[in-house]
Amino acid sequence: MLIAFALLGCTSGEPTDVAEVPPPPPVAPAPRHVTLFGVLPDTMHDIETPPSRALIDLGRMLYFDARLSKDQQYSCNSCHELAEYGAAREPTSGGAPEGQRPRNAPSTFNATLQFRQYWDGRSDDLVTQAQEAFLNPREMAMASQSDVVSAVSAIPGYADAFAAAFPAEPTVTFGSISRALVAFQQGLVTSGSKLDRYLMGEGAAMTPEEVAGFDRFVSTGCVSCHSGVLLGGGMFQRLGAVHAWDTPDEGRAWSTGDEAERRLFKVPSLRNVAETGPWLHDGSATTLPDVVRRMAHHQLGRDLSDDDVSSIVLFLSTLTGTLPTDYIAEPPLP
Ligand code: HEC
Ligand code: HEC
Repeated sequence: MLIAFALLGCTSGEPTDVAEVPPPPPVAPAPRHVTLFGVLPDTMHDIETPPSRALIDLGRMLYFDARLSKDQQYSCNSCHELAEYGAAREPTSGGAPEGQRPRNAPSTFNATLQFRQYWDGRSDDLVTQAQEAFLNPREMAMASQSDVVSAVSAIPGYADAFAAAFPAEPTVTFGSISRALVAFQQGLVTSGSKLDRYLMGEGAAMTPEEVAGFDRFVSTGCVSCHSGVLLGGGMFQRLGAVHAWDTPDEGRAWSTGDEAERRLFKVPSLRNVAETGPWLHDGSATTLPDVVRRMAHHQLGRDLSDDDVSSIVLFLSTLTGTLPTDYIAEPPLP
């Protein structure tokens, strides 16, 4: 008590001294945790060799064209609806063929920045992903590569679009179809979120409550898996890292056959996560508080208070960026 009193006396000084010290100038608080995350770029196209407008326009038409699927039932946009942040509203999408677990359709926005594609990361990049999407019984369900090429070639209007997009080699091939789709998808960016503006130094872009939620996201340990520009999308982790997670989906082991990879899933991006529910690989979570609570318990061994949960959920809403409405407008199809 005596020591505390002495220290207090030491630092505060006489009342007259205090009155003479000018108040410190107001300093905007420096954005926090800048090194752990990153700002979404405005475009994900290769800046040195940007794709032509014609190639992107072709990719957009293909993205919206249901005639390229089995029974002409689905386009990419059916399950990755761009006006809805590129994800599906249903818990799981598409039919579930034998032996495979139905999964939730993740967003195609910002997807190219991930280190791999799919919940189990079985595709290396968007090119192989687009090719698999056509043949995957749970996506476009086409029987073969040549069936896809025939479906496109059967629509006469596409000939001009391919000629404009591939002037040197206008023949429709499986490779050129996927290249166009990828060129279009690389423009699917949702920049301008509150978090991005905050990280770029605009301290007032986030309210003090949102910054507090950001602090809790970091101090709770979510950041150990969800970091980088996408707050995810860069590694695999075991679902149920601390407390077992009950799911029949084998995760990576299902595609690699490696028992050691059982229940390993790609840590998903949290960009726009407030808009992409239902959540998790099986779409089993219908509210964000539920996901946050389960994550903290199973992945970190922590049981969060209601206050912590709502604070983190508030932070997650700052990850919603702006939809590029002109870029994603549905085009007239040939
Ligand atoms: C019938 C629904 C359906 C259709 C149609 C569909 N997808 Fe998917 N897509 C899914 C599902 C479900 C997954 C997740 C599957 C998994 O992880 O095993 C997925 C995953 C993806 C991913 C990986 C995203 C990530 O974060 O890992 C991309 C990219 C993608 N699809 C693009 C496309 C494109 C391009 C097309 C059109 C050629 C397409 N999809 C058609 C349902 C669909
Ligand atoms: C040990 C790694 C790890 C930690 C720590 C972790 N997560 Fe996750 N998170 C994952 C994985 C893996 C998934 C994918 C779950 C699945 O496959 O269903 C995921 C999924 C999510 C999702 C669902 C995203 C979607 O699109 O469906 C949210 C939201 C999320 N985590 C938030 C958090 C929050 C908030 C915390 C901290 C309380 C946290 N995570 C901690 C690994 C982790």
